[in-house]
Amino acid sequence: MAEQITAPEAERKKTIFSAIQPSGTITLGNYLGALSNWVRLQDEYRCIYAVADLHAITVRQDPKAFKQNILNAYALFLACGVDTDKSIFFIQSHVPTHAQMAWVLNCYTQFGELSRMTQFKDKSQKHADNVNAGLFAYPSLMAADILLYQADLVPIGADQKQHLELARNIAERFNGVYGNTFRIPDGYIPTVGARVMSLQDPTRKMSKSDENVNAWVAVLDKPEVIMKKFKRAVTDSEARVCVGEGKEGINNLIGILSAVTGKTAEEITLEFEGRGYGDFKTAVGEAVVERLRPIRERFDELIGERAYLEEQYRKGAETAQMISQRTLDKAMKKIGFLPR
Ligand code: TRP
Repeated sequence: MAEQITAPEAERKKTIFSAIQPSGTITLGNYLGALSNWVRLQDEYRCIYAVADLHAITVRQDPKAFKQNILNAYALFLACGVDTDKSIFFIQSHVPTHAQMAWVLNCYTQFGELSRMTQFKDKSQKHADNVNAGLFAYPSLMAADILLYQADLVPIGADQKQHLELARNIAERFNGVYGNTFRIPDGYIPTVGARVMSLQDPTRKMSKSDENVNAWVAVLDKPEVIMKKFKRAVTDSEARVCVGEGKEGINNLIGILSAVTGKTAEEITLEFEGRGYGDFKTAVGEAVVERLRPIRERFDELIGERAYLEEQYRKGAETAQMISQRTLDKAMKKIGFLPR
């Protein structure tokens, strides 16, 4: 009898939720650090992924560019291998429960908690002329995204750890007042995948907001551009391809080559023994070009297939709406709202 009760729970595929903002440029860092993991996780888990467009308006967006960026992000993630037959993939603003739940959770989130978020502190310094309430409440929208789907696991980068911790606290607080309503999500730190650093200053994370365009590679960069950026990558004066202290540039390139080819750092070290950095940088560039080529080609096809894209994101939104509405209704009922 006990077995009958526990078996379905044990067999239940765990739910993963993650989202990425449509920022205009998806970098090699985004791909190797996040997207390639999204793709890998699809067989093992019930994956729910979103383009987080609501989060993006916490900073001012140009309307035309914003619309294009949302569509491009959706198409690019599909091109990378997000599979709408296996996973639920939608655009956040298409599913109104996110904004609704965010409001509800705002009322269970403390001013002090939000004030302590390091991302808020950083961004309000960077955009001192537009420190809006949305920027402040950003983490409760993110909590809504996650909690609406009763997610077990949330793949996130280090910069989002504090937000996930807050989402857990909000959920625990709500459950404490009203009884079990939300599953408490755990962070998922993938075993594969790389933290990709700037090609120009390898002590910093690769970021498309870097003023030096040679510091980052975009997934959709042309092969010539990718090669040029890798040839200019900063190294060191030791002229030995191996992992080591003070060799951040080479460590980063080894990490990238390892992530795109599946070879280990040891295999790479052996392969390049006695060879110069010029050779090595060319090899890393070529491997990245080959890894990204099919993605760029698929993106170019998809972006012309407007009807197909619409069909996919509508399907995703419908399913997401159905699942998330249940959680929203449950939470609102517990609070005491009068159902319509
Ligand atoms: N805030 C995340 C970022 O900028 C994106 C995001 C929005 C997210 N909602 C989420 C990530 C829910 C994980 C879970 O990277």
